[in-house]
Amino acid sequence: MSERSALIIGNGGREHAFAKTLGDYVTIYAAPGNAGTALMPNVTNVDVDDPVAFAREHNIDVTIIGPEAPLVAGVADDFRAAGLTVVGPSKIAAQLESSKSFACDFMERHDIAYPKSRTIHTVDQFTDEATSIVIKADGLAGGKGVVLPQTQDEAVQTLTAMFDGAYDGAGINGVLIQERLSGPEVSAFALSDGNDFVLLPFAQDHKRLKDGDQGPNTGGMGAYAPVPESIVSPAQYEKIRDIARKTIDGMKADGNPYKGILYIGVMLAEQRGADPVVIEYNARFGDPETEVVLTILANAGVDVYELLKSTDSTLNASQLDGVTLNQSALTICFASAGYPESSHKGDVILGLDTDFPDGVFVHHAATKLDGDAVVTNGGRVLYVTAVADDIDTAAANAYSVIGESGVHFDGMQYRTDIGKQARTK
Ligand code: AMP
Ligand code: GLY
Repeated sequence: MSERSALIIGNGGREHAFAKTLGDYVTIYAAPGNAGTALMPNVTNVDVDDPVAFAREHNIDVTIIGPEAPLVAGVADDFRAAGLTVVGPSKIAAQLESSKSFACDFMERHDIAYPKSRTIHTVDQFTDEATSIVIKADGLAGGKGVVLPQTQDEAVQTLTAMFDGAYDGAGINGVLIQERLSGPEVSAFALSDGNDFVLLPFAQDHKRLKDGDQGPNTGGMGAYAPVPESIVSPAQYEKIRDIARKTIDGMKADGNPYKGILYIGVMLAEQRGADPVVIEYNARFGDPETEVVLTILANAGVDVYELLKSTDSTLNASQLDGVTLNQSALTICFASAGYPESSHKGDVILGLDTDFPDGVFVHHAATKLDGDAVVTNGGRVLYVTAVADDIDTAAANAYSVIGESGVHFDGMQYRTDIGKQARTK
């Protein structure tokens, strides 16, 4: 075992991005991983029932928890109780993601801007104009717990379904009715050891399925980073930094220090003079934002392993000192037929061995090996990612490898306008 070894929990594009970023110099176990991690020389996919026991037996140096579910279940606490190094917040701190009412109470007490919100428990308590509010189930709902209703009927049907438990049970204990805001959204990631924090370069996700931000919300159809000053001005940047500072300080003051990765989903709200407002906190990196953020950090020479690991002791923020981020990265999601309502498994993915331009590669998500073939295994299947000196080149290079002569599979869906707001072409 090399001195540097990591257990990566999760099976999406985010976890393949961790593996790709660390894989050259770290021995990795992916639990359970996907076809992308299975094909990497330094990575072993494993099925693990008890991650703490696995980490101990294999003398793992650091465990990185990718998705929210294990964090919310307290897996990071189990690692810390066993004296093992882990990247991710405690179960209590992860409530910033798992409980919208916890997050709203927290922001209220710590003077952090968020949309006006109230919690209701019966459909009768809904008296609002449907198109001026957002409905949020108060719990984890696999990314589907936020609805922007277009009619009163849709609002009432949504609320009824949430109270009935149709959203993975999220909503049974309450549903948030939140003021609907508008404006550009930014994904800000802070790494913290509970005291100190660093902000990573911002990314923008593309939540809607179709070009021009049309169609249903998804887990994210593409992303790019960094975000130019034409979208987030230096003054807005400072206000987002201030939100991160207040969040880390507030969690510490409340006795719930936040260690690990904090995702602050921000809207530059027109209704607030374009000031940043927190739309959501997540207790983990975003997917597909990770694919672009880690790519530019690693290309700039940042030791991502050391940086992540240090969140469990004393943050090694100096890792980012003097680092010039002079590249841009862009990633395009390929979803399978039927996504987001359903997904299609078993379609063979072709063109993965095409000769790509420099800086273009594939992050696997819902893929698996079927003999020698790589096949679809869920909704968001894979991402074509490109890194280049500027966003226009990254976009052109990424899009150049998609289609009949490049990466494709039956029924694939993807957007043709990823990063358009930051591109000049
Ligand atoms: P979330 O699952 O909290 O990320 O929400 C999904 C998406 O719903 C966000 O990325 C926004 O586009 C939208 N959204 C959430 N809250 C609001 C809000 N208060 N006003 C307008 N849009 C919102
Ligand atoms: N890309 C949005 C998320 O990870 O929640």
